[in-house]
Amino acid sequence: MWYIKKIQRNLPITIILLTLLFSNLKICSKVMTLDLPYVRSQFPAFSEPSLKGWAFFENAGGSYPCIQVINRLTDFYMKNKVQVNYPYPASTKAGQLMEASYKRMADYLNVDESEIHFGPSTTQNIYVLANAMRPMWKDGDQIIVSCQDHEANAGAWRRLADRGIKIIEWHAHRKTGILSLEELEDLFTDRTKMVAFPHCSNVIGHINPVAAISEMAHGHGALSVVDGVGWAPHGFPNLKELGADIYLFSLYKTFGPHLGLMYVSKELIGKMQNQSHFFKEGISRSMLTPAGPDHAQIAAVSGILDYFDKVYFHHFKEDTIPSERNNALNKLFREHEKALLDRLLIFLRSRDDIRIIGPDSLKDRAPIVSIIPLHKTIKKLYATLTKHKLMLGMGHFYAVRPLMDMDIPTDPGVLRISFLHYTSMEEIDQLIEGLREGLKI
Ligand SMILES: Cc1ncc(COP(=O)(O)O)c(C=O)c1O
Repeated sequence: MWYIKKIQRNLPITIILLTLLFSNLKICSKVMTLDLPYVRSQFPAFSEPSLKGWAFFENAGGSYPCIQVINRLTDFYMKNKVQVNYPYPASTKAGQLMEASYKRMADYLNVDESEIHFGPSTTQNIYVLANAMRPMWKDGDQIIVSCQDHEANAGAWRRLADRGIKIIEWHAHRKTGILSLEELEDLFTDRTKMVAFPHCSNVIGHINPVAAISEMAHGHGALSVVDGVGWAPHGFPNLKELGADIYLFSLYKTFGPHLGLMYVSKELIGKMQNQSHFFKEGISRSMLTPAGPDHAQIAAVSGILDYFDKVYFHHFKEDTIPSERNNALNKLFREHEKALLDRLLIFLRSRDDIRIIGPDSLKDRAPIVSIIPLHKTIKKLYATLTKHKLMLGMGHFYAVRPLMDMDIPTDPGVLRISFLHYTSMEEIDQLIEGLREGLKI
């Protein structure tokens, strides 16, 4: 039969073609996973002898800094610690290094450079914002403030009650700690000017639907102010897509220096009252940062993006715009964090001697898990965890109002476990082992 002969003749070529096809299919179906040893090699803390064996679970309090940030900070202090933006080289360079951080951060977050502000911390940034925004409103106007927030996004707004603004509280669910969108809808009136809420609470760990809430606020002619401090360490947001008018996070929790980043939409800043020297009026970068910014730390912010770029190009071949690199990294980090969180939640759910605060499933959950032991004091459990070389936090973490809403005493508060994409499964196992031991009666 002629066709069998033909196949036999072409067999070697057919085999080569089939092999190529299958190997390509394999490449296409391969899901990118995080190269953890590579990631950890970017953080000196993981090779620091004094930290050897210690597993870090207090990341919601502040992350380890990456080497790129440390190098940039040191470099600035060595070479450019002069007043910036004069024509002499060291000064001009200092200004350029700072400028690069504004530009690169804006590109990563998908916003305009003029919309990025660096202040000393998120708490101070919100304090300044509240003062800048008060003149935008009339006596008797209303603002909605969530009770799921860290005090940073709570106290400064509530103080406006003494200055003629009516505060409407959006309470967290007594049992789950979750904020309900139906309840929010009922809080709006024709005098509502703003809704302040967290992207993710630093004790409850539930991820709020920022886009949907912002859309609701806009539908009522109100602004949305989002505390992104709890979420940003797990993935920088694409701010254009998110739709919040103001979004804040703390860079010392996202591998960087001790600064707060604030995004304020261009349209909005022109309506705010200048909070800086009178001659800074109209200079948008200065209006919301009354004190001189920390030059060296701002310059070092670029180091976070050096790190992100390095991790991106280590995993992906395709060169693309920074906001797209950010999207890809978000997925990569999230998948890794979810696998770790899954293992931890399975263990926690299997115990009847602890209470998990917030949702106990992976859905809409950040790796910030607060627990309360039911048959032991938090302090006793903590002592065992320390013996197991586990670094955690305990207390109320300035999230006093969420705990009050859930009837949880702020003293002793909760034991908080929080981790990031640089955490390993071995560290999760070390934690589980420590918890198992510590929970024994
Ligand atoms: C959710 C949340 N918001 C705000 C803050 C305050 O940030 P900063 O220390 O930059 O003022 C924190 C700090 O822990 C936080 O966890």
